[in-house]
Amino acid sequence: MAVIGQDISKAKRVLDAGELVAIPTETVYGLAGNALNPVAVASIFETKNRPSFDPLIIHVPSLSEAENYVTDIPTSLRKLAEHFWPGPLTLLLPRKSNIPDIVTSGLDRVAVRVPDHPLTLELLAQLDFPLAAPSANPFGYISPTSPKHVDAQLGDKISYILDGGKCKVGLESTIVGMEEDEIVVYRLGGLDISEIESIVGKVTVKSHSSSNPQAPGLLESHYAPTKPFILGDLNEMITDYQERKVDFAVLSLSQSFPSISLPQQIALSPSADLKEAATHLFAAMRTLDESNAVVILAELMPEEGLGKAINDRLKRASTKG
Ligand code: TXA
Ligand code: MG
Repeated sequence: MAVIGQDISKAKRVLDAGELVAIPTETVYGLAGNALNPVAVASIFETKNRPSFDPLIIHVPSLSEAENYVTDIPTSLRKLAEHFWPGPLTLLLPRKSNIPDIVTSGLDRVAVRVPDHPLTLELLAQLDFPLAAPSANPFGYISPTSPKHVDAQLGDKISYILDGGKCKVGLESTIVGMEEDEIVVYRLGGLDISEIESIVGKVTVKSHSSSNPQAPGLLESHYAPTKPFILGDLNEMITDYQERKVDFAVLSLSQSFPSISLPQQIALSPSADLKEAATHLFAAMRTLDESNAVVILAELMPEEGLGKAINDRLKRASTKG
């Protein structure tokens, strides 16, 4: 298992040596390596078992540092960065040649963000390079929102996990770029679209499920538990599975079900607050995946605020067929 601690100098030593460290952010934990070192970046792909056509986000301590790795920041994206960095916003920007091909899978744009976590910001400020960091989970599985989640799955492959506690947002960053003069959202995430639109006006959302690797982070099956994960009307499904005598678990927004034993049901937010629900989503999916149930039943959230991003994750996690 990995060592879990809060020693920034130790994290720096490991990263300076070209090795990987799991880092806390406000969204999810990242599996970080030196973004300017193609060998370190290759080991990120290997450790996650991630296909190399899926590019990585680079993490920098500030907007001014970001300028070292991109040739241009269009005015409206700059406005977003000024408003929301540090925060759950990733910008796709034309890359400079100092960013290795392996980071972007050869694409012309590099994904950049300033994460909002004091330990990681301090670490980034001490490093001479940006950190390439995908979510610190094996490819296709649920993203980690605590050091324990990282340790359970990648602990035998990495030496150090920087412990920043539980992630306060709980959903990956919202990914935004430009096409001609249009602002495009490629991945729904922890920054709500309405907040983006309050700064730059109407945006286009292109975050549909796809097997096209050009579309960021959007491989159709993703964030998936190992057990069948079925979306639908909870009351109907519960009746059905009780009749079939199948041992199931239930993930709801706020409802509780007296007939189901507690370890096998989780309400994401008793007050139906979608921000709170987002914070708990991935941990709840893991808990139910580790329960005795053989199938997980879940419901979609209202399509408002972070509900849209939560629904995106629920749909990608769901078992098709
Ligand atoms: O909140 C987050 O964004 C977390 C934390 C650790 O920062 N990171 C994260 O990384 O979610 P990852 O690799 O799990 O998802 C990033 C997605 C990738 O699936 C990739 O398709 C997309 O961003 N992406 C990265 N670079 C891109 C690029 N140059 N062009 C298009 N899409 C890109
Ligand atoms: Mg991921």
